[in-house]
Amino acid sequence: DQQADKILRGATVNFKANPRVSGQENSVSYEAKGAIVISTSGHILWQGAFANLPTEFKELPCDDYEDKLILPGFIDPHIHFPQNRILAAPGKDLLDWLNRFTFPEEARYCSAEYAAKAAEFFLDRLFANGTTSSLAFCSVHKVCADTLFAAAEKRGMAMITGKTMMDRFAPDNVLDTPETGARDTQELIKKWHGKGRLKYAITPRFAVTSTDAQLQLTGDLYKDNPNCLMQTHLSESAGEIATVQKQFPWSKDYTDVYDHFNLLGENSFFAHGIHLSDRECARLSESGSTVVHCPTSNNFLGSGLFDIDHLGKAERPVGVGVATDVGGGTSYSMLQTLGEAYKVAMLKGRKITAYDAFYLATLGNAKQLKLDKEIGSLDPGKFADIVVLDPKSTPVLASRQEVSETLEDVLFSLMILGDDRAVSATYVAGKCVYKG
Ligand code: GUN
Ligand code: ZN
Repeated sequence: DQQADKILRGATVNFKANPRVSGQENSVSYEAKGAIVISTSGHILWQGAFANLPTEFKELPCDDYEDKLILPGFIDPHIHFPQNRILAAPGKDLLDWLNRFTFPEEARYCSAEYAAKAAEFFLDRLFANGTTSSLAFCSVHKVCADTLFAAAEKRGMAMITGKTMMDRFAPDNVLDTPETGARDTQELIKKWHGKGRLKYAITPRFAVTSTDAQLQLTGDLYKDNPNCLMQTHLSESAGEIATVQKQFPWSKDYTDVYDHFNLLGENSFFAHGIHLSDRECARLSESGSTVVHCPTSNNFLGSGLFDIDHLGKAERPVGVGVATDVGGGTSYSMLQTLGEAYKVAMLKGRKITAYDAFYLATLGNAKQLKLDKEIGSLDPGKFADIVVLDPKSTPVLASRQEVSETLEDVLFSLMILGDDRAVSATYVAGKCVYKG
């Protein structure tokens, strides 16, 4: 439906390309006095300077955000729905944190009632932080995925999720079997994949918690459902890597385990990837896989420092996304996540600019998810999934803007100092779903 519905006015910030590849200034377009026209179907019809607004749109109702920033909604390509209550659980390391806090909490998601209440809280947090789409883990329970899909569908958002598969190395109440895991997954795919804006992600937790038999069936599921995504964890902590080496003694390395079971590919998402060798990067690159950087989680769990330049080496570049990893991650805010990514890069002697960072959280993540035809920028034709940011939302930010001279400056200060207080409004498919 191409019928115009309303206008948003504000300072529009739109990414066109990866600033690390195409150059900083070529990658972003900015209209200090911009406007967006949204259709009744929830798509962007027109975008540009308000002064150039075609006369046919001039009488439409208008949400005027003055000099606030209008950006594409943030995309979070790695987050755990059933961990929404356990942010800030102090584990000794990843495996200790999983055993003491994570598995007991995820066990509660066998209850439809518990899951339904949590889903509303979880999606509210996403919208309050300007996140309009995510690739999320559920618990092992089919009902958990069913519940999150239903809640996301009601909100009209592009949600990708799946039931976690795990059949060993954890308490019984969070385990499935190769057969029930595969059967439940297949049923959920049939029910939800491609329904509205929803997609299914085949979700083996990580090599540590799946037997060979389960990984084998997971590879079969992925082969049979090539339009689904596949998400798991890879090379996050020292203890995890040592465990995988013991469990799969034949493997060249951790990546080789997933490779052996045919889990690498264009639709494959591997969270963390902190300790990858050149060989592993080459295979991930060759297969078109994505590694998702989760800096607040890596720092919180003491997992290590992700090296963006190592992953991005020109001769074998690995596609990279950036995500919160709540609840190992300590914030739902993609602003805080980008700020932490900046600090991790600094500690590695690397540099990411604010343009690099905001690109990653929007169009970059959309491209990795192969959703860039629908989301990730303000280009006409895409869904009007939008976040409005107030660069003066706190006293510290307001005084900082008095000395900001460029858009890069404003975005940089937002990612270092900003959080959910900076979110003035969030739109999903043209509908205002949050007001700050
Ligand atoms: N590896 C396996 N499961 C998890 C999880 O829930 N969180 C993190 N950060 N890493 C994992
Ligand atoms: Zn995770």
